[in-house]
Amino acid sequence: MPGIKPLNAALGAQITDIDLNTELSAEQVQFVRDAFHEHIVLLFRGQDLDPAAQMRFTEIFGEVKGHPLKTRRTVDGFPGVLIIENQPGKPGARNDYWHSDISHSPQPPLGSILHAKVVPEGKGDTMFCNMYAAWESLSDGMRDMLDGMKAWHDGAATMARNNNEQNDGLEIREVPPPHLHPVARTHPETGRKALFVNPHFVTHFEDMTAAESRPLIDFLEKHSGRHENIYRHSWRAGDVLMWDNRAAMHYAVLDYTPEDRRLMHRTTAAGDTPY
Ligand code: SIN
Repeated sequence: MPGIKPLNAALGAQITDIDLNTELSAEQVQFVRDAFHEHIVLLFRGQDLDPAAQMRFTEIFGEVKGHPLKTRRTVDGFPGVLIIENQPGKPGARNDYWHSDISHSPQPPLGSILHAKVVPEGKGDTMFCNMYAAWESLSDGMRDMLDGMKAWHDGAATMARNNNEQNDGLEIREVPPPHLHPVARTHPETGRKALFVNPHFVTHFEDMTAAESRPLIDFLEKHSGRHENIYRHSWRAGDVLMWDNRAAMHYAVLDYTPEDRRLMHRTTAAGDTPY
């Protein structure tokens, strides 16, 4: 059986003694699933997955779909495997803001899997925060106010990023309409409530203006990203790291330069309608 060790007190665990290139047994799959639901972020070191193997592993959790906005290049023959790359003369499209992947879609992905191929030494970490803990550590008064509220999530932020900067992100011509999601969503597997407000895609709360909403969005970002609520991952080539978009936000630290090469392959597993 695989082994497990927590990454820190906030969230995350490393799974050892498992080769994701092999067909996993039912027991191994159950072990990984249980660990994922308990720890939100899972790390597997020393893996070497080709795109087909990464797809196979992702499909254990949900169907692999391409990005609805077609934001990035994909691996030839694998439209579900996004290339996240920074290379001399071609900086990668930035992700240095707290977000939950593609939360502007009606059914945001359940989780994402990032496989590090090339990493700039000591740079390009990714941070994760625990959104169950963010919800649970709010005051009773704040939770009472937020529970039942909804927020608008808009992909226009991604269009602005891809179209207005010199980067390897593909030009986006159109974004689907924004979507309303509950501010506190119930995790379909654990039954726990998690805060589901990210400052990148959420523009405002239902029946409120953007100006009225922003101070609260800013507060919730600060509250979620408190030092004691995050795990900061320093990448090594060969890492496979998966996170639960229903219970975490992430932030790609942009401390590398356009000359540093960083190459990741990302897949996402389809999720369901937040409730
Ligand atoms: C992402 O936000 O999906 C990418 C994170 C990273 O490049 O570290």
